[in-house]
Amino acid sequence: MADKNLVDLSWDDFDEHRDPRPVSNQFDAVVERAISRRGFLGGAIAFGSGAAVFGTGLFSNTQDALAQEASRFAFKPIDIATDFAIHVPDGYQSKVLVRWGDPLWSDAKDAYSATQGVPVDMSDRVFGENTDGMEHFEVDGRQIIAVNSEYVNPKINLPEASEGVPQTADEVKLLKNLQGVTVMEVADTGAGFEVVLDSPYNRRITHETEMTLAGPLAGHALVKTKADPTGKLVKGTMNNCGSGKTLWGTYLTCEENFNGYFGATGVEPEGEGYSRYGIGGQGRYAYELFDPRYDISNEPNEPHRHGFITEIDPKNPESVPIKRTALGRFKHENAEMVHAKDGRVVVYLGDDERGEFLYRYVSTQTYTPGGPTESLLDEGTLYVAKFNDDQTGEWLPLTPETTGMDAAEILCFTRMAASAVGATTMDRPEWVAANPLKAEAYCALTNNKNRGVKPNAGGDDTAANGPNPRETNNYGQIVRWTPEQENHAHDRFSWDLYVMAGNPTVYDNEYSGSANINTGNMFNSPDGMAFSSDGMLWIQTDGNYKNEEEFEGMGNNQMLVGDPESGEIARFMTVPYGAEVTGLCWSSDKRTAFVGVQHPGGSWPDNEGKPRSSVVTVWREDGMPIG
Ligand code: FEO
Ligand code: CA
Ligand code: CA
Ligand code: CA
Repeated sequence: MADKNLVDLSWDDFDEHRDPRPVSNQFDAVVERAISRRGFLGGAIAFGSGAAVFGTGLFSNTQDALAQEASRFAFKPIDIATDFAIHVPDGYQSKVLVRWGDPLWSDAKDAYSATQGVPVDMSDRVFGENTDGMEHFEVDGRQIIAVNSEYVNPKINLPEASEGVPQTADEVKLLKNLQGVTVMEVADTGAGFEVVLDSPYNRRITHETEMTLAGPLAGHALVKTKADPTGKLVKGTMNNCGSGKTLWGTYLTCEENFNGYFGATGVEPEGEGYSRYGIGGQGRYAYELFDPRYDISNEPNEPHRHGFITEIDPKNPESVPIKRTALGRFKHENAEMVHAKDGRVVVYLGDDERGEFLYRYVSTQTYTPGGPTESLLDEGTLYVAKFNDDQTGEWLPLTPETTGMDAAEILCFTRMAASAVGATTMDRPEWVAANPLKAEAYCALTNNKNRGVKPNAGGDDTAANGPNPRETNNYGQIVRWTPEQENHAHDRFSWDLYVMAGNPTVYDNEYSGSANINTGNMFNSPDGMAFSSDGMLWIQTDGNYKNEEEFEGMGNNQMLVGDPESGEIARFMTVPYGAEVTGLCWSSDKRTAFVGVQHPGGSWPDNEGKPRSSVVTVWREDGMPIG
């Protein structure tokens, strides 16, 4: 019998359920000492040598001084909200573009019902649930959006009596179909953007869509199954979290908490290859009870075929998605591709789990616009970040020589390879965003309540370190690095913290945040990030929205804009209670922003029936670009 409680856990807490934090351990005393030692010093500069890790200017300005300077923000920052609505600044408007259950084709026009949700036979004809990473493409003058549906909420999608646990193969099919990726055409009708029903570009990719494995792990014994003795043909991309866009106009979807879809009905395969990734026990959605492919007692290699960056060509709805194994296997957040100064392709990649790592892939060949691209994501080197306390850092190559693992093992068990070279354990790397105007990149380190408390799943030490300086870090921070010689393919970089989130009302120590945090822009748990073409950093949060205790004054999740030069951060948007804001892209003319609202609460946006995860559009009333 499946455990009903599993579906109530966040993905983060699902990890904790598998590998519980001890009630008390050797770190606790260290944390207490650290907090009491730092507590009386007051202010963020109380971090030992930590003041030096902040960007220029972040400690030299108070908020009042910042306000007097000429701000580069085109909007007046908004207050927090605690309601079930979206708020944007004066002079801006927002509107829902597409909700979970809305049709992509005319035959699904009446598929959704406020009481029943979506029927199984229409479940791959509608927009999926829990929208996440999203990218915009212009194809033959048309506006195309590719967008992830990260996961499903079974209690919303299944009959009430099931209490969120599927009871039939059809119910499992329904859940599978409502996740994955949507490619859809959108058009400005004059009254704002709408989805173009029946567009030849519209497409759903689900947990059952056929795709190929490419790169050095393809065809290896580790990825062969009974159903696929070639080790090159896979079904499904799952837990599609963040996204990326290649230089050649394809979509990258990033497989994050893939482990949760697998379970065991009999004898479990054992080994670090399973334990390090949290694979085993009972699956989150009971897939294994109805589909032997997800039963690791039956197919121990099936989980090795997920946890990749998958490339999708939005221009061609017939194209077969390709899982790019050269970019490693872990809980991929997003994939930020940049064209390095030396011509090679660089992809920055975060592994979102407490104490896991930040990665970089560098292609072997260089890229030229219009030139060949087929080898660029198959032939290259994967690196992992090591941050030194003196604000320098280096990318450590993951090779047979450095790790003692063979090339296929490195790509299948990437976390173990990264541990072997002594990479820096991070506070849950979420999105990476690269500044289009300058050689620098940012990674949101969302939070890590286990920092200084418990090692990562591989047993690596998680004592506070340079870019992750706070024990029991419930607020998160954003680290920024600048590659040497302005070349993202260079193996050395310098780094600082762009912001450390915190609460200056509740705390007067390192938990009050860095100097660019104030009572007017407080937030916690930075997650999604993207640069607009004008070089501003948009920051989306997926945090605690209870607005009480240590989170008092932060309100609902929000989207803020950060100025990389001044360090100033201003709140642009708040989303309904319960929701996180994730996924951001712009129309070709930059006059419309597309923003994802995942797992809203209440009955948003319909004001009746079930809450519906949605993509919304945001625009300026004066018709000017918004980024
Ligand atoms: Fe799916 Fe780490 O966010
Ligand atoms: Ca995220
Ligand atoms: Ca998150
Ligand atoms: Ca999420």
